[in-house]
Amino acid sequence: MRIVFLGPPGAGKGTQAEIISKEKKLPHISSGNLLREAVETKSETGRKARDYIEKGLLVPDEIVVDIIKDRILRDDCKSGFILDGFPRTLSQAKVLDEMLKKLGNRLDLVFYFAVSEESVVLRLTGRRICSSCGANYHEKFVPSEKEGICDKCGGTLYQRADDKLETVQERIRVYHEQTEDLIEYYKKSGILKEVVSDVNIEIITKNISDSIESALKKKDLISDGVV
Ligand code: AP5
Repeated sequence: MRIVFLGPPGAGKGTQAEIISKEKKLPHISSGNLLREAVETKSETGRKARDYIEKGLLVPDEIVVDIIKDRILRDDCKSGFILDGFPRTLSQAKVLDEMLKKLGNRLDLVFYFAVSEESVVLRLTGRRICSSCGANYHEKFVPSEKEGICDKCGGTLYQRADDKLETVQERIRVYHEQTEDLIEYYKKSGILKEVVSDVNIEIITKNISDSIESALKKKDLISDGVV
């Protein structure tokens, strides 16, 4: 299955992608994580991307597209993937469609995480990340047992630079301006599924998981010539 998680910043895309990726054995490709890794390693791409990320702006398409193309062409993506945070502009969506077409594939499902702006702000400003293993926490909603310390590896938790309130507001503005149109784009292609995301993590996981299972069954019936 080739799946996209679409939605505003802080909607819970990364949290769900981690869980569903393990459950369905599909690689989780996060454009944000790939860009942050490039910034960490001070690569040429990272140097170009850094300023945009810190200001809450989108990194130019040509930079992001190259990173994603390289990742999708790796062997582990042959039978599918979960794209989290990509595409984020209409032109990225078209490049992705073209690329998959050349590989003889297409997207199967796009999950749109529908969530209130109030939840987004609360989730992002309270998010904490492990500096060692990257695990994701929230001060209030997903707290670690010991404040500031990762349950999984004992690493120190930190706040992402772009999770400060001012930058969060800018990211939300950018989302409305440049990404929201993708909802209509995928609705028209008939692969969009809306997931109500103002609810707890387990409920969202179940809804996504059930949708994937029924899409898989439908795909099997089509390939068996039943429908
Ligand atoms: P990126 O890292 O992709 O950030 P984002 O899309 O803004 O998404 P987030 O990671 O902030 O949120 P999320 O939806 O994954 O939420 P999460 O699960 O963590 O991008 C960062 C930057 O990189 C961009 O601003 C841009 O500069 C650049 N970039 C990336 N992709 C790009 C592209 N394609 N083109 C151009 N530039 C690009 O959850 C948030 C918090 O809420 C966590 O603390 C979590 O524990 C908690 N939580 C999750 N679910 C729930 C729930 N159901 N209830 C309560 N709390 C919850």
